[in-house]
Amino acid sequence: MKTYNIAVIPGDGIGPEIVSTALQVLQKIADTENFELTLTEYNAGAKTYQAVGDALPPDTMTACRSADAIFKGPTGLPEVRLPDGTEAGVLGGRLRRGLDLYVNLRPVKLYPNVPTALANRKPGEIDWVMVRENTEGLYASRDNGIVANTDQAATDTLMVTRLGTERIVRYAFEEARRRNGKKKVTCVDKSNVLRSLAFFRRIFTEVAENYPDIETDFMYVDAAAQALVLEPDRFDVMVTENLFGDILSDLGGATIGGVGVCAGANIGDHAAYFEPIHGSAPNIAGKGIANPLSAILSLGLMLNYLGEAGAGQRIETAVETAFIQGTIILKPDGSAQSGTQAVAEAVLAQL
Ligand code: IPM
Ligand code: MG
Repeated sequence: MKTYNIAVIPGDGIGPEIVSTALQVLQKIADTENFELTLTEYNAGAKTYQAVGDALPPDTMTACRSADAIFKGPTGLPEVRLPDGTEAGVLGGRLRRGLDLYVNLRPVKLYPNVPTALANRKPGEIDWVMVRENTEGLYASRDNGIVANTDQAATDTLMVTRLGTERIVRYAFEEARRRNGKKKVTCVDKSNVLRSLAFFRRIFTEVAENYPDIETDFMYVDAAAQALVLEPDRFDVMVTENLFGDILSDLGGATIGGVGVCAGANIGDHAAYFEPIHGSAPNIAGKGIANPLSAILSLGLMLNYLGEAGAGQRIETAVETAFIQGTIILKPDGSAQSGTQAVAEAVLAQL
């Protein structure tokens, strides 16, 4: 029997509670499938920074490198900051660049009976996936920005490389082939203004020539923001720069019941981690009301990555059926009406 080694980072705020809740679902799936899981917890995040002075200690990084996959809760606490004013517990840059996880894959799908902020939109009309470039763009500047020694200015540099763009664009086209969707990739950039993003679009066009079976579509990021609200059914796969992808994936989340329903995968050629796309919400931590769906759905993405697509599909179907049967009810603000554990029970009941 296959055994997968999973490194688990519970994280900060609501992280530990949604991670442990979601793992009940994973365990139940594993019990009925032909594989075993070894789950090992590692410390990382803001609390770890406070305890040992490093948000990502070397033993955690080593474990992440050698695991078959990593399951990560949200990390970071607003009050735990580095001297430069940025959050100490945020791990995105170090894990993504450190493990070269160049794809940030974030499905945006409206499930039945979920209150959406968009009037008259039905399931099936919002079903697309964000392919966010994850190692460069403006966030290449993470930890590298410059504050002028006059203390009157600061800069961050947006970097677009040929290799980085070719590989993310290729991934987007492959994803469009894998998906049972519109077979279309939308390139979102600001090529009318910035040279770096005109370069991004030029490389997109070059790569697209290898995928004659996939339709191409181009939008500037501002227009794309509007389109996500007015015509979300236009999208199938979106590929874009790192910061744009960060912002637009939360906008997409708002159209499907909030980021509490949004799963995320950070994937490279040799490692991957899976996480809710939202933050650690310390204001509701420990109250048992956090919505664990993004964590649960992230485990579905993890199973797909591990080659257990059937098991991954079971998670998605279980969530969908629970929504149809009304055993999961989301409030208009995206929180789970019945609380964290009740959502897990509703999903477990379908398995
Ligand atoms: C995300 C988050 C992170 C990012 C933050 C917490 C650093 O917003 O994963 O979308 O910037 O990428
Ligand atoms: Mg974000």
